[in-house]
Amino acid sequence: MFSDRTAWNLEANPLSKALTDRISSGKQVIDLTESNPTKCGFHFEAQQILEALSHAASLNYEPVAQGLLSARNAVVEYYRSRKCAVNVNDIFLTTSTSEAYAFLFRTLCNPGDEVLIPQPGYPLFNFLADIQDVPTAPYPLIYDYGWQIDFHALQRAINPRTRAIVIVNPNNPTGHFCRSDDMHHLNQICLEGDLAIIADEVFLDFSLGKDMLSNNKALTFTMSGLSKISGLPQMKVAWLIATGPETLKQQGVARLEMIADTYLSMNTPMQLALPALLELRHNFQQQCLTRTRNNLAQLDKVLAAQRLCTRLNLEGGWYAVVKVPVSGSDDGLALELLNARGVYVHPGHFYDFPADGYLVVSLITPEGPLATGIEALIGLIGEKFK
Ligand SMILES: Cc1ncc(COP(=O)(O)O)c(C=O)c1O
Repeated sequence: MFSDRTAWNLEANPLSKALTDRISSGKQVIDLTESNPTKCGFHFEAQQILEALSHAASLNYEPVAQGLLSARNAVVEYYRSRKCAVNVNDIFLTTSTSEAYAFLFRTLCNPGDEVLIPQPGYPLFNFLADIQDVPTAPYPLIYDYGWQIDFHALQRAINPRTRAIVIVNPNNPTGHFCRSDDMHHLNQICLEGDLAIIADEVFLDFSLGKDMLSNNKALTFTMSGLSKISGLPQMKVAWLIATGPETLKQQGVARLEMIADTYLSMNTPMQLALPALLELRHNFQQQCLTRTRNNLAQLDKVLAAQRLCTRLNLEGGWYAVVKVPVSGSDDGLALELLNARGVYVHPGHFYDFPADGYLVVSLITPEGPLATGIEALIGLIGEKFK
């Protein structure tokens, strides 16, 4: 009756099951994984958001495959404010970056062609690619005082069926950026191998120092959207932008346009609201950066008082990785922490860390719960390794 590609193991894993049981039995949970900005106690300009959604022109339907020009111009303006010039004709609005990934995988890959994804990385990649019959192959990020791409392994992972390399700037959950020499190296590899770069920059504005350059050497598809930029994932507005060698880029844009035209998935009220919702990013980003900085400082303070756990260096994004002593699986440790202390964290395994000994916490968790949760985590580890 059903396709092989949907033959997933849909059984809840022990950690999610324990979480659901705990919540349904009314026990307290300190959730250090919360990364939905609408649930983290930020102040949103409610009236301005709601006004943006009630544009009179929403009563008309003007189907435009790439998205309404006024909305795409707002995206151009956003990049201009970051001193980055993008061409309005190379932008496609999508209902999420997930949809942008789907469009790109359909544009670049035949069934069975591969894309390379960073490891550790965003857990949704495998599903997004699987649904499009595109296998993923990981390329490792290695940690040595900071994260970096293992280019030797990346090059070994390329085979005749490889079509694209996904990079995430800053990466979820490692919080590191590709440096300009990394981009140079990646461009060379992609130009030589006829590969595209898919650059996921949803967390780009949440840098703790560095900034990222836009890429136009190899064929590149850069994506971002409102879910992180303005903390509005419920609006379902994202985009992808094609850059690179002109002829190749135009071919890509023409093919993408056919796909976008087939779905016309962007709704009119959201496109009309986009300029105002992008403007509201400043208020959100200020709160969010303050939150992540405070939480990092708190995390470091607690970690400084003990010697068993450390925090890995990061350059941006919404996550911190805590290195813990290995006494079993990370899944087991996360489960024990939830059962014994009511604190929920993600095991590194969730992000495909290649070894045990890593837990991931969301830095946009409200400050109080983060402090309590980290104390509880360190307390449990201290007891285990007395
Ligand atoms: C790397 C990365 N890309 C994309 C997204 C989701 O973006 P969207 O809501 O536009 O699908 C996330 C969400 O956490 C993410 O971590």
